Amino acid sequence: TQRIVVVISGSGSNLQAIIDACAAGPFPGQVVGVLSNKADAFGLTRARNAGIEAVAVVPESGEARADYDRRLAAEVEQMQADLVVLAGYMRILSPGFVQQFQGKMVNIHPSLLPRYPGLNTHQRALDNGDREHGCSVHFVTEELDGGPVILQAKVPVFEDDSESTLAERVHTQEHRIYPLVVKWYCEGRLSMSDNQACLDGTALPLQGYA
Ligand code: GAR
Repeated sequence: TQRIVVVISGSGSNLQAIIDACAAGPFPGQVVGVLSNKADAFGLTRARNAGIEAVAVVPESGEARADYDRRLAAEVEQMQADLVVLAGYMRILSPGFVQQFQGKMVNIHPSLLPRYPGLNTHQRALDNGDREHGCSVHFVTEELDGGPVILQAKVPVFEDDSESTLAERVHTQEHRIYPLVVKWYCEGRLSMSDNQACLDGTALPLQGYA
């Protein structure tokens, strides 16, 4: 069974979805540790409630990003992660960290990448009058929110949507697709090479899957 380490900054509802999927079993992986850059992240409480080791790695004032990331990486190594799952982790990762876990680190992003990398994705979709929005799970590379997409889920955007109603619709889909991707990875079916994600040797993303 694969050792999953989840890295968060906040609520951890995606973490919870993955914990629940592992518990519902059979599932070829388990969450062995949760790391957060924020000491008060609710996701740390979720982890402890599930009996999972939860550690806050809080940046020191003036600490260089590379130094912080080395401390974070040391925790990930300590937990002997087979897979690193970024779930609402809101810090940019240094190249060294990304290289260390290349091909075994995934992220979820609240937009249909390559649209809207970065922040405020729901508001940007509304501002642009998009009729469709969604979320993406991708392998992490040095390009911010730019690694190869594994799986996406689309949602409609309605005339009367606010940022929060749209965010909630996207969140519901995140909680479906992230555990599925984690499962694929733990089954040994997912890989990345030449900036391309593959499932069972087939190039991703699959169209119309989720
Ligand atoms: C999710 O919507 C995730 O897509 C987003 O943060 C939220 C975390 O929610 N991630 C990013 O914006 C990454 N830049 P959660 O803590 O409840 O899982």
